[in-house]
Amino acid sequence: MKRILVTLLATAFVATVTFASVAFAAVPAEVAFEAGKMGVVTFNHTAHQAVGDCAACHHKGVEAGACRSCHGVDAAVADMKTAAHKMCKDCHKEKGAPNGCKDCHKK
Ligand code: HEC
Ligand code: HEC
Ligand code: HEC
Ligand code: HEC
Repeated sequence: MKRILVTLLATAFVATVTFASVAFAAVPAEVAFEAGKMGVVTFNHTAHQAVGDCAACHHKGVEAGACRSCHGVDAAVADMKTAAHKMCKDCHKEKGAPNGCKDCHKK
């Protein structure tokens, strides 16, 4: 059973109000992926915004919404584990960022 919790911090709500005309949800400061027995993966969105363009990760556009709105929905599209591992781990490998299971998965 895969679940995802998107943590929107107070600043993100302020951003919604300030940029109400923007066509996508508030940019989260942090996202917590619930990975079953593998525990929780905390993704620091703010820090990762310095790593690449929005489109480097939001490959269908930011307006397309969360990864999970497509991955894990249609069997023809890679499931969330496959998509997350490919995107997260490929870049970590390329940039020399921490890439062991426990660097991401905290129980
Ligand atoms: C290194 C990868 C990465 C970069 C760069 C990145 N994001 Fe994200 N973003 C993510 C991930 C992963 C999530 C969580 C998606 C999910 O919940 O399935 C996310 C979530 C979001 C969400 C909330 C999801 C939703 O409901 O629509 C918004 C909005 C967003 N990002 C906007 C941006 C914007 C704007 C930029 C550029 C300034 C950006 N992101 C850059 C990876 C990234
Ligand atoms: C609007 C739907 C949609 C959204 C949102 C989306 N994807 Fe995808 N993704 C796809 C589709 C469809 C493919 C298959 C290739 C293609 O069409 O680009 C794909 C392919 C991928 C692949 C390549 C998979 C492989 O096996 O080669 C990765 C990695 C990936 N997505 C990661 C993500 C991440 C991470 C997010 C969130 C930040 C995300 N995607 C958001 C629809 C989506
Ligand atoms: C485009 C490249 C890129 C993508 C995609 C990316 N990361 Fe990262 N990530 C980095 C870099 C570079 C660092 C190291 C930053 C530093 O050391 O200051 C990092 C650091 C981290 C850290 C901190 C590790 C530690 O122990 O210090 C975590 C956790 C993390 N990323 C999780 C993720 C997850 C989860 C995803 C996928 C949803 C992801 N990252 C996608 C580039 C990326
Ligand atoms: C760079 C970060 C990162 C690294 C390194 C990483 N993972 Fe993950 N893993 C994730 C993310 C993000 C998810 C997606 C969670 C979700 O479904 O929302 C995930 C999902 C999973 C899942 C699916 C869990 C579930 O039931 O939903 C398993 C199993 C898993 N990882 C095992 C591993 C193992 C074993 C390793 C080490 C060989 C590893 N991961 C390394 C980020 C990472």
